[in-house]
Amino acid sequence: MTLLGSIFRQFVSIPTLPATLSLKGQTVLITGANTGLGLATARECVGRGAAKVILAVRDQAKGDAAKLSIQKSHPSAPATIDIWHLDLLSFDSVLAIGKRAAQLPRLDIALLNAGVFKFVWSTSPDGFETGLQVNHLATALLALELLPTLKRTSKELGSASRLTFTSAETHMFTKFEEQSADNMLEQLNKEELYKDAMDRYCVTKLLNVFWARELAVRTPREEVIVSYFNPGAVDTGIHRDANLLIRKFDRYVGRSVEQGASLVLDAAAVKGPESHGQYMSEGKIKPPSDLVLSEKGSKLQKKLWNETEEVLKKQVASTDGLGDIFNV
Ligand SMILES: NC(=O)c1ccc[n+]([C@@H]2O[C@H](COP(=O)([O-])OP(=O)(O)OC[C@H]3O[C@@H](n4cnc5c(N)ncnc54)[C@H](OP(=O)(O)O)[C@@H]3O)[C@@H](O)[C@H]2O)c1
Repeated sequence: MTLLGSIFRQFVSIPTLPATLSLKGQTVLITGANTGLGLATARECVGRGAAKVILAVRDQAKGDAAKLSIQKSHPSAPATIDIWHLDLLSFDSVLAIGKRAAQLPRLDIALLNAGVFKFVWSTSPDGFETGLQVNHLATALLALELLPTLKRTSKELGSASRLTFTSAETHMFTKFEEQSADNMLEQLNKEELYKDAMDRYCVTKLLNVFWARELAVRTPREEVIVSYFNPGAVDTGIHRDANLLIRKFDRYVGRSVEQGASLVLDAAAVKGPESHGQYMSEGKIKPPSDLVLSEKGSKLQKKLWNETEEVLKKQVASTDGLGDIFNV
């Protein structure tokens, strides 16, 4: 996969959502829903008749503004729009939202979409490099926390719930040099070994892919369809800290957030059980990177799962029931 190929694919036509797609009665939770892809997707869910759309955001004021903007564009839609606090830089915040989700009567679709692209090294209060925590560790924990509610919903309603990760084609653009480390996550968390912001972002998106695939192996598709997809370059705030060239690229080559939202919902609501464990790009099921599909990749996938489990257990050891969530 080359950068040129990625640019070319920006101009490939992508499917529009079927006019008949209805989310009537459904509850959808979206992380990073105050802006970019998350906000456009929340708007689309409201427009498609969802009963409840939960905007999981870290800033109440931004959540309020997003809610108002959705209500303005769909004044007569039936949806309740809730704003839930979620800061992926805090494992406690993730655990709190997991507990809250467990009280929901139903959760049909969880879109784990929030992400960051940091251009300099920074760490969370929990002690992890920001991209590593937001894009992988906390997102993985959130998936595990939401899984029982998604499973309960599917049992009660007799159809599979959905858990979809926003990954990226950039997962193919890293050599993933940390793969040979005894402990990959420890290696990724050493400031002295951090070289390249671009590579770090690509690695975190590769971790999404490995982790979602392993979660899919451990989750029956009849209960929860687990998938991950590439929205392509979309003109959002993801590169807010980047140089002008990258931001101009997004502006002129990036898809609109509405097109991006179509791809999110194509992955999470249009595609069926065949998408379980699969990577999607341009609205099609496609192979992920050669590394992911290789024998080495299968080993790395399991190793990452084990390392993630170890980190999360250590980080949130005192929390009730955490041991259970890895029993997926
Ligand atoms: N845009 C692209 O070209 C592109 C391409 C491939 C994949 N993606 C992926 O698409 C997803 C959505 O990104 P976007 O393009 O829509 O970018 P965006 O406009 O920057 O949105 C990112 C969202 O994530 C939220 N977020 C960041 N850190 C958070 C934290 N600690 N806790 C909770 N939420 C946090 C942001 O909240 P704040 O507003 O509060 O910061 C924002 O709502 C990301 O996973 C990204 O990696 C994007």
